[in-house]
Formats: sequence, structure tokens, C-alpha cells
Amino acid sequence: MGLLITPKLLDMLKQMIGDESKSRRLMSLLKKRGFLQPAFEAYGGVAGLYDYGPLGGRLRRKVMQKWLDHWISLGNIVEIDSPTITPEEVLKASGHIGAFNDYASECNSCNSIFRSDHLLEGFHPNPDSLEGDSLDKELGVHKITCPTCKKIDWLPAKPLNLMFSTTIGPSNIGRKAYMRPETAQGMFLQFPSIYRHFRKKLPFGAVQMGKGYRNEISPRQGMIRLREFNMAELEYFIDPLMKIEHDLGQWDSFKLKLIPDPEGNNSEEVLLTVSDAVEMGIIRHQTVGWFMIKTFELMAELGINSELIRFRQHEGDEMAHYATDCWDLEIFGGYGWIECVGIAYRGCYDLEAHQKSSNSNELKAWREFEEHITVEKNICSPIQSKIGPIFKDKCKIITDYLELLEEIPKEFPLKILNDGIEYIIEEDMVEIKEMKITQRGEWFTPHVIEPAFGIDRIIWHILEHSHKEIPKKDDENYTLLGLKTDVAPVDFTVYPLFEKDGMEILSKKLVEKIMSMKGINANYDGSKSIGRRYARGDEVGVPFAITVDHQSLEDNTITLRERDTQTQKRMSIEDLLEFVSEYK
Ligand code: ATP
Ligand code: GLY
Repeated sequence: MGLLITPKLLDMLKQMIGDESKSRRLMSLLKKRGFLQPAFEAYGGVAGLYDYGPLGGRLRRKVMQKWLDHWISLGNIVEIDSPTITPEEVLKASGHIGAFNDYASECNSCNSIFRSDHLLEGFHPNPDSLEGDSLDKELGVHKITCPTCKKIDWLPAKPLNLMFSTTIGPSNIGRKAYMRPETAQGMFLQFPSIYRHFRKKLPFGAVQMGKGYRNEISPRQGMIRLREFNMAELEYFIDPLMKIEHDLGQWDSFKLKLIPDPEGNNSEEVLLTVSDAVEMGIIRHQTVGWFMIKTFELMAELGINSELIRFRQHEGDEMAHYATDCWDLEIFGGYGWIECVGIAYRGCYDLEAHQKSSNSNELKAWREFEEHITVEKNICSPIQSKIGPIFKDKCKIITDYLELLEEIPKEFPLKILNDGIEYIIEEDMVEIKEMKITQRGEWFTPHVIEPAFGIDRIIWHILEHSHKEIPKKDDENYTLLGLKTDVAPVDFTVYPLFEKDGMEILSKKLVEKIMSMKGINANYDGSKSIGRRYARGDEVGVPFAITVDHQSLEDNTITLRERDTQTQKRMSIEDLLEFVSEYK
């Protein structure tokens, strides 16, 4: 398992997967058969917005369910859900308001705007890592022309924030907010509840699936760059001092294609087992390595060709503002290598940022010392006679908060936010006491490892990797989607050989019976020749066809045809139903 992608192999893969023209043929098939289509087409469409149709909707649901099952089955991961509308303060604290930008270059001649790094693709090994002046310089050095008017007349590259803004409440007096650009912040802010759920024992994780919104500068390449897209993210909270042992050796038969790039400008692939890459310090954290292999495993189960997966490390400048190590899982398809998952070591960036900006004392975890220690410490202690009458039954919240402070507050009044309520502590409500205290442990900010998945990009590559065009002598190409049974939108199609003599009645009864089995989907198709109907089923990736003919009416047998081998087998309806019930 694992082949280095040499130029020769890449050519072979291009023939297999195809190029942008094959991607366009696939898109037109998907549109015709109800998988995907540009949204709001009746009104001219909007770049970067897509609809999933009847078959696409089911495919998306199955991919998302498989994603969820894969992580939840690990046992220490839970699913949460939070709003997509996010108040400005949250995204200020997370750094998105200051740093979630892409550089755009405007053509001075025709005013078309493009993402500056996209203009440099193919001219620079890592254009994503460049900023303002360097982008302008590279555009000049490579004499990049405007894709619209073909002139070379670029205005200086400008950073543009990618978030959609909105207002909560009436626009003139409401609270400023944004549509979330990632689902992650909702999980950080739910940390206290997840911490309690896991009885305050790290490590654990939370997942969230839902829409993310980015006002991309120039959406293109179909499902690859959307303005509203399906995200699936996992935040794994760890104690950075606790050694977590993952048995990475169990995957030593797999070698991953890695492009280690800590300094940038590297495009050399190496083939390594995850355990070797961690040992050599190429992957900087064991748990990051573990998520890389678990993600690789999931991609293969979803139907991505594992030879066409590689991991590329971000160099320092390219990394998101919160990350300290980051690997992109890239998948090869008609558009070349595309990032579909980002696996980032976010450190304590987000939880710490929210502690500072919201004053919450709940975004921490407790670490027990092996041996208790006694220290002399200045403590900011509440004067009960002062806080009692004011805070009444809430005094414990104030006392707990003050006890947790690592240092004496420099400024008063002190604002404490707890469960959405603000408590104001004035200087005369506290006293500084020097005390000998026994410390059983300490509070610390957990670190986070985050695999972030773009579901639409993954779905696109599942479709591309399963899309086969088989040349036929006297006809057009025979088209087949070799979707895995776990994700195929329809599991069985039942075909009456003719819609008469009761064949149609028996077929419909079979559909009804199969549909009553949990999680299995069947269709009825009675129009046109049986050959045409098999082709229609293959084209949308139905794994099995069931044909009801005259003989079926006499002896209760049917024919089961398998999509991938095109083999047919006669069997009793009883055996068929047993096969269906054990399917998957
Ligand atoms: P890119 O560099 O391609 O813009 P990114 O580095 O900004 O992507 P992340 O911020 O890491 O992407 O987002 C996590 C995942 O979300 C990506 O790996 C990708 O699969 C997906 N994603 C990001 N932006 C888009 C988009 N505009 N349309 C569809 N999927 C996206
Ligand atoms: N949460 C990962 C990202 O959106 O960058």
C-alpha cells in the first residue's frame, strides 16, 4: 500500500480520473440525475451556491452519517450543535475578525477581482503562504495576465475578510454578528458542558456537522469552492502534559504519502508509516498522527481511492492564525490536488482567547498533582460580609472564581461571566491574604487537535473516483458510478421485465418489503427496455438490480444483478430478503 506519485504515475492517474473536461461531463450527469445543481438557477444562479437534489441529498446524508459513526464509535467523542449566527465578540476573540482574510488582486483595466494566490498557482510552489507585497512582486515576476481582459495591470493586493456579516435584531440597533466561517467556535464555547459530560477527564472530543459560510472572492471549480458549505469538525481536547499512547504500530502496513514542509517550498513526497513519521519528528504530535491515519481510513471507507490521497504539511506562514502544526489531506481529482481535510494542532489558542475576552473561568480543566504540595501564596479572598448581601446564593460562584485566579487582579471592578450572567466585583469586596495552602492540583487550559472536513469536497471526490466511462463500440461511453454500498443513495432497484401480468405488482411489493427494512432504500423502475434500465441504475451507482419476470410469478424466484461485476444470479425471494436483511 502506498506508491510515490512519479510524473509517469501522475499521467496514468490523470487518464484514470480524467481532467476538467471529464469533471464537466460528471457534473452534467449529476445535474441530469438529481445529485447536484447550481442553486437558484431560475434566477440566473449564484456563484458558490449549490443544491443537492433527491439522490445527492441522500448521498450527502449517508456520507455525513458514516463520518459521524466513525468518530462517535471511538467512545470518548460526542456530537453537539450550535447556532450558525455568531455574535461579533466571539469571532473577534477567535481572531477571525482580524485574520480570516484572503488577498485579492484587482485588475486596474477591467476591475475583475481574483484571489491573488490563485493567480499564482503553477508559478509558485506555495502561493497560499505569500502576503501583500510578495504577492504583487510574484505577479510581476511571472507576468501574470488578467484572466478576463488578458492585460497586466494589477492594483496592490488587498486583504479581504471572508465572513458574511449580519445583525441580530433590527439592523439599526441590533447586535453585530457573522455567519460562522467554521463550526469550531461553538465547540470551544461548549467546553464546560462537554467537560462535565465526561466527568472532567481528558482526553475527549466533540464533533459538529453543519453549514459554514465564507464569502469566497472568486468561487470556481464547482463543489470545490463554495460560499455556503457543509463542514464536519472534531475538536479533541487533551492535557498537553499527559502522554497519550496511541498504538500507531497497528497501522505499520500502511505508508502515507507525506509532503513535510516546515520551511516551505518543498514539493517532495516521502512514503512513511505514521509511527516512523512521528518518531522522526515530521509529524509533531502523536495524536495528530493518529488522527491522520484514522482520517485516511475513513476516506478509503467512503470510496476515495487511497492511492490518490496525500498529506501536505503547512509551512509556518501558511498556517491558520491559531495553528502550530497543520497537515492538509489532499485528494487528487480532475482539478488536481485539492485540500479536503485540515488536521491542525490548535494548542490552547481558542480556549485562552475566549477566557480573556469573556472573563469565563470555565474554559479550563483540572490536573491533579501526583503529590500534593504546600505553597505560600497571596490570595484574593472575598469578604463574605460584603458579597453575601449582594450576591446571596451566588456567592460560591464568586469565591470559586477568585480562588482559581493565578495572580491578584491588577484592575477593579472585576467582571465575572458565569452562565450568561455578569457579576461585578468592586475592590472593597475583596482582601489580599497571604496563606499557606496545600495544592492538590492546578487548573490549566486544554490543548486542542482539530480535524476539519469539507464534506462537499469529499463528496465531489467520491463521485469522481467512482465515475467510470467505459468505451463501447457502437454507442457512447457506458457510464457507471461505482459507489460503495455504505454511501450509494439507492441500494436496490426492482425492475419488472414488463409492466403487466402481475410482474409490476410483485415488483412493487418487493420494493415495499425492502423499504420497510431499516436504513435500506429501494426504487421501482418500469419504463423502457431492461438494458436501458440497468444502465440508468449503473449511472447513479445502484449496487444491485432485482428483476421480476414471468418465471417469478410461477416459482417465486428473481434475478439479482450486481452492478460492479454485472453478474446475475437466480434466487428465491426468501433468499433475496435474507440477503437484503444482511446487506451492509
Ligand atoms: P482553502 O485553502 O482551499 O481555501 P482552507 O485552508 O481555508 O481551504 P480550512 O479553513 O482548513 O480550509 O477549512 C476546513 C475544510 O473546509 C477544508 O479542508 C475544505 O475541505 C473545506 N472548505 C474550506 N473552504 C471551502 C469552500 N469555500 N468550499 C467548500 N469547502 C471548503
Ligand atoms: N476549523 C478549521 C477552519 O475552518 O479553518
